[in-house]
Amino acid sequence: MQIFLDSSDERELTRWLAEGVVDGVTTNPSILLKDGASDLEQTARRLAALLGHRPLSVEVTAMVPSQMVEQGRGFARWASNIVVKIPVITQEGESCLSAIHALSRAGIPVNATAILSFNQAMLAAKAGAAYVSVFAGRVADEGGDPSALLADVRKWLRQWELPARVLAGSIRSVMDVQRAAQAGAEVVTVPPALLPKMLDHRYSRDTVRQFNEDAARAVAAMAASAGQ
Ligand code: E4P
Repeated sequence: MQIFLDSSDERELTRWLAEGVVDGVTTNPSILLKDGASDLEQTARRLAALLGHRPLSVEVTAMVPSQMVEQGRGFARWASNIVVKIPVITQEGESCLSAIHALSRAGIPVNATAILSFNQAMLAAKAGAAYVSVFAGRVADEGGDPSALLADVRKWLRQWELPARVLAGSIRSVMDVQRAAQAGAEVVTVPPALLPKMLDHRYSRDTVRQFNEDAARAVAAMAASAGQ
């Protein structure tokens, strides 16, 4: 399973790349706004360079499929590791599958985003998306079961040998990460604030403290016996 950072924060990305746990990055307009990005192209280029060969998802801001394709083609020229993020439908509910299909057929990988249902994931995968982003937190907001949805989508893709990868987004807690991983998501995109929480454990700290204290005692004891 891959872990993506759901962020455009370069400091966080640099930090977690050095920790060896980041396989890619997802962004969206809300994330860019929150992180204070002032220029989409420059931000994307910098993130893409930091990532090396790892994928960076950049979401289109165009509102109609034909313009999404044009914008997506432009994004893809910024760096070779850019994945164009396209919502499955517009805010009016119009299909964006044609944009997903056109870019995918042109060899530009697409992350189909804002997926809240099995049927949306199925259609996005059929249209050629490289990733189907299931918004786990938002599914749960409406009383849905994100784990069941992720597992069902994963199973269906495997059954029909479609290449799309299931990406769990809208992750809000460490338990969401665990549940998405256990449901079989191939990618979980995690807000950076959750990574230290995933790692830390009070009892691990106590255990390490005990070893450190005993190490100091052992060193002292060894030094004392060497001096005899
Ligand atoms: C990731 O690709 C998504 O854009 C992101 O996780 C959405 O999260 P949200 O539901 O918190 O906006």
